[in-house]
Amino acid sequence: LFKHVHFKDNVDSTQIVAQRLVNEGAHTGTIVIANEQTLGRGRLGREWFSPPDTGIWMSIIVRPEIELREAPQLTLVTAVAVARAISNVTDLEVGIKWPNDILINGKKVVGILTEMQADPDRVNSVIIGIGINTNQEKFPNELKKIATSLSMEKGKKINRAELIIQILKEFEWLYDAYLTMGFQFIKPLWEARAVSIGKRVKAVTTKEVFYGMAIGIDDQGVLLLEDDDGKIHPVYSADINHTM
Ligand code: BTN
Repeated sequence: LFKHVHFKDNVDSTQIVAQRLVNEGAHTGTIVIANEQTLGRGRLGREWFSPPDTGIWMSIIVRPEIELREAPQLTLVTAVAVARAISNVTDLEVGIKWPNDILINGKKVVGILTEMQADPDRVNSVIIGIGINTNQEKFPNELKKIATSLSMEKGKKINRAELIIQILKEFEWLYDAYLTMGFQFIKPLWEARAVSIGKRVKAVTTKEVFYGMAIGIDDQGVLLLEDDDGKIHPVYSADINHTM
C-alpha cells in the first residue's frame, strides 16, 4: 500500500502538504511525515501542538471505493491500527475514546483528523492525519491536565521509526480487511478498546449539549447514547467528556 513516503523536516501541516499531493493526483497509500509542524491542526478548528523531534506527525492519503456516509468509519479503522501499534511497541494499556482519541491512563496521546473530498456522494480521497505525542517530556500549561506522551507514560524514549513502521503495518492489513469485509470486521476490535462505552457522557455537538449513557456504536460507527427515558440517540460528530 505504501509506495510513496514523503519525509519533511518542517511543514505548516502535513494535511496541507497531503492536500496538495491529492490535487496533483497522488496515489492511494501516499504518506507525508514531518518532524515539526508550525500550523498543526486538530479537530473542530483547533490547533495541534506539534513541536520538533518529539512527535509523529503524519498524513495518509487513501482513495477507497466507499460512500460518503461510510467515510467516518476510516477514522475508527485508523484508531484501531494506531492503538494496536502503540501497544505492540510499548506494552502500555491503550484505550480509544469515541471517535478517535487514543488515551493512556486517561490522558490523550494521539489525535486523528480525517478530511475528505467527495464527488458528489462517492469518496474521492481521504486524508487521515495522525498526531502522536511520542517523546515530549513536558506540555504547555493548558495541555498538561489532558495530554501525555508515550515516553512520559513508559518512562523511556520511544523509537519513532519503529512505531511508524508498526502503524503502517497495522493500518495496511486493517484497511484491507475493512475494504473486503466491511466495518463489521473492525467494530469488535474498536469496541474491545473503547473507554466510553458503558459510561455516562456529555456529548457536545455543534448544535447541542447532550447527556446520556454511551451504550455502543452501530454498524456504521455512529455512537449511540441512551437518555434517562431510555430513548436512544445517534451521535454522528461530537466531543465526548466522561461524567459521573
Ligand atoms: C485532534 O484534534 O484530536 C486531531 C489531531 C490531528 C493532528 C494530526 S498531526 C498530523 C496531521 N497534520 C495536522 O495538521 N493535523 C494532523
